[in-house]
Amino acid sequence: MTTALAIGQPTDRVDGRHKVTGGAHYSADMLPGTTAHAVLVGARVPSGRITGIDTAEALQADGVLAILTHENLPRAAAQPPLIPSLAGMPAPGQTFFPFQDDVVHYAGQPVALVVADTLERAQHAGALLRIAYAETPSVTTLDQAREEAYEPAAIFGGFVPGRNTRGDIEAGLARADLRIDATYTFAANHHNPIEPSATTAAWDGDQLTLYDATQGVAATQLTVAALLGLTPSKVHVISHYVGGSFGCKAMIWAHPALAALAARHLQRPVKLALTREQMFTSVGHREEQEQRITLGADKDGRLTALRHHKLSPTSHFDDWAEPSLGVASQIYACPHYEGVYRLIRAHTMTPTFMRAPGEASGMFALETAMDELAHRLGIDPIDLRLRNYTDMDPNTGNPWSSTGLKECYRRGAERFGWHRRTPEPRSHRDGRWLLGYGMATAGYPVYGPNNPQRARARLYADGTAVVQAATPDFGTGVATVMTQVTADALGLPLERCRFEGGDTTLPTIAAAVGSSGAGMISAAVHTAATNLRNQLVAQAIGDAQSPLHGADPATVTVRDGRMMLRDAPETGEGYADLLHRNLLPDVEATGAWSPSPESAHYGMMTFGAQFAEVAVDPDLGLARVRRMVGAFAPGRVLNAKTARSQLMGGMLWGLGQALLEANAMDPRRGRWVASSLGEYLVPVNADAPEVDIELIEVADKVVNPLGVKGVGEVGQVGAAAAIANAIHHATGRRIRKLPITIEDLL
Ligand code: MOS
Repeated sequence: MTTALAIGQPTDRVDGRHKVTGGAHYSADMLPGTTAHAVLVGARVPSGRITGIDTAEALQADGVLAILTHENLPRAAAQPPLIPSLAGMPAPGQTFFPFQDDVVHYAGQPVALVVADTLERAQHAGALLRIAYAETPSVTTLDQAREEAYEPAAIFGGFVPGRNTRGDIEAGLARADLRIDATYTFAANHHNPIEPSATTAAWDGDQLTLYDATQGVAATQLTVAALLGLTPSKVHVISHYVGGSFGCKAMIWAHPALAALAARHLQRPVKLALTREQMFTSVGHREEQEQRITLGADKDGRLTALRHHKLSPTSHFDDWAEPSLGVASQIYACPHYEGVYRLIRAHTMTPTFMRAPGEASGMFALETAMDELAHRLGIDPIDLRLRNYTDMDPNTGNPWSSTGLKECYRRGAERFGWHRRTPEPRSHRDGRWLLGYGMATAGYPVYGPNNPQRARARLYADGTAVVQAATPDFGTGVATVMTQVTADALGLPLERCRFEGGDTTLPTIAAAVGSSGAGMISAAVHTAATNLRNQLVAQAIGDAQSPLHGADPATVTVRDGRMMLRDAPETGEGYADLLHRNLLPDVEATGAWSPSPESAHYGMMTFGAQFAEVAVDPDLGLARVRRMVGAFAPGRVLNAKTARSQLMGGMLWGLGQALLEANAMDPRRGRWVASSLGEYLVPVNADAPEVDIELIEVADKVVNPLGVKGVGEVGQVGAAAAIANAIHHATGRRIRKLPITIEDLL
C-alpha cells in the first residue's frame, strides 16, 4: 500500500489565492498606528560635496513632519566598513552608509529624507527642497578609466579570490592546434521586481519592529542592529510577503536603517518605500563588464587552455564584481586555466547579486566561444561539449556529488529536435526569416550555508501540524514547498500542514541567495518534522495503552496521520489518539541542519542544457526567439510546478539578457539613462516564446537530506548564449555583446 508523496507534486501555491485577491500584505501595506511617510531624496550629481541645503520652503509645506539630512539625522552607531556578508552576520549592500557627511559618491545617493503625514505631501515637500552641490569630475564607465584597472585580492563580498589558476596557461595555449580569442561586452542590468523595496519601522520603547521586503529577515535584523547600535533581540523583522527580488533584496541597503532612524527621531512609525526610479540607484545592479576569453584546443576539440579575464567597474567602497569566472572555470575538463578579475573605481553604488549572479554573464562568454570553436572545427556543438565533459570539478579534483549533464544534453536535444539542424549558417529559412538553432551548457553551483539552519514543527491534538522557520517567501514558492516537505516527513495529508515564516522570532534561516533556499530550508524543515515524528513514535512505543507499545521504532511507519507497523498496518493509531489519551494539546520538536563535512570533498553543481530557435529578419535586424528548450538536473524536484516556473522565469530572463536588458550610463552626467520600465526593457508576454522544460531527477546524497540542488538561477545560465549561437547559425554573424540589438543585425 502506497500513498502518493506530496514532494514532487505540482501543488498550487498555498498563498496563491491570498496574492491574487489582495489578501497578501506587503511591507509597504503595513501602516501601524499613525504611520508617517518618508520620501528619499537622492543626490543629483555623481561626485562632489553638498554645499547647502535650503529647507525653508519645504518645511512650510502642509503636513511636513521633518526633513532629515546629514546636518541633523542622528549618526549611525556603527560606521562602515562593515564586512558585507550573508553568513550569519550583517549584510550591508555596501560598506558606505549615507548621511554621515557632505560627500557625494554617486548619483542617487540618499541625501535627504522628507517625512510628512501623507505620501503626497512628503513627495511635494521633497520637490521644494533646494540642495546645492559642488560637483567634482566623475568616472562612471569602463571607457573612462580602463588604464586605472587594478586586480583586487577578492571580490563578491570577499568570498571569491581575485585570481584563480591551475596548470600552466602559457604551456596550454602553446600546445593548442587552434585558438579562439575574443572579447565580450555586457551592458549593466537592473533588477525590477514587481514590488519595489520598502520598509515600515515602528518603535515601542527601545524595541524596534521592521516590516521589510527582504530575502533574509536575519540579514535585515543584524544589519540594522549593527548600524543603530542595538542588540539584535531588540530588532524584530517581519516579512510575510515579498513581491520578487532576484538578488536586489539579498543585501541590506540604507533604507531600512533610515526608516528606523526617522521613526525614532519622530517617535512615530515611518514608512519608506522606494520609487521605481529609485530602484535603479538604491539596491545595486549587475555591473557593466568586459570579458576576454582565450581558448586553446587540439584538433579534436579538446580544450588545452582557458584564459578568462573580466574587467568591470565597482564603487569607491567595495571590491565587488559578480563571480563570472566560476562555473566557466569548472564546467569542462581543461588542464590549464587562468581566471583574473580586474576592477576600476567608479562613482556608482556597489553592484550586487542579480539572478544567476556571475554565471549568467560568464557562461555567455564561454558558451559563445565554445560555439565558435565548434564551428571552426566542424564539430557538432553538443559533441564538442561531450568531448570536454568532466566528471569532477577541475578546480579541486573533487567528483561531482551528482551530475545528469549528459542526460540534459540528450533529452534536451531530443525535445528540441537538434538532429534537424544542418551545421552551415544561413541554411534554414522560413520565408524571408533566417532561422537558427543554438545551444549552450548551463550550470550553477550548490551553495550551502555556514551557519545552522533551523526549524520548529508542532503537531496539535486535532491532527494538524505547523512548521516554522524565519525565511521569507520572496515569490519562489518556499511556503508551498515546505508544506509538502512537512506533509511527507510527518505522514500527514498536505491540507493538514501549514508553513509559517518571514519573522525573526522564528528559528533562524540564512538569507536565501544563490539558489540555496530550497536546499537549506527543506533540510531544516525536514529535520524538524522528522524529529517530531520520531518523538511521537517513541511516545507511542513507550505508552502501555498504545497498540504500538514496545514496538521496534525501525518497524514503524507513518501515513495519513497514523503511526503503524510497516508490515502490519492494522496495528497502530492516529497521532490525535495518542495526544488525546495523554491530555497533550500539542507536541513540538526543533531541527537544525548544516552541510555535512563530507560535502567539502565533492563538487556540487546543478547542470542543464539550453536550446533556442531564433528567427532573424536580415532586412530589419529583428531577432525573434521562437522556441526555448531547457533540460535541467536539479537533484530532487520538490514541486514540479514551482520548479518549472523558476526555470521558465530564468530562461525568459536569459532572453531579456540576450535581446533587451540594458542600462547605459551617461558619462557626462554620471547618471543612468534608464530609470523606468518604459526605458529599461524586459521581456513581456508578447516576447515570450514557447518554453519547454524537462526536469531530470538525479539522486544526490551529499548536498542536503532531500538531495535538492536548486532551480532559481540555473535557468538563466546559458540561455543568452543559446540565443546568440542561434543568431550566428541563422545569420553567420557572431555577436559578442549583450544585449544584441537591431543595429547589431543590420
Ligand atoms: Mo540570488 S541573485 O543570489 O539572490
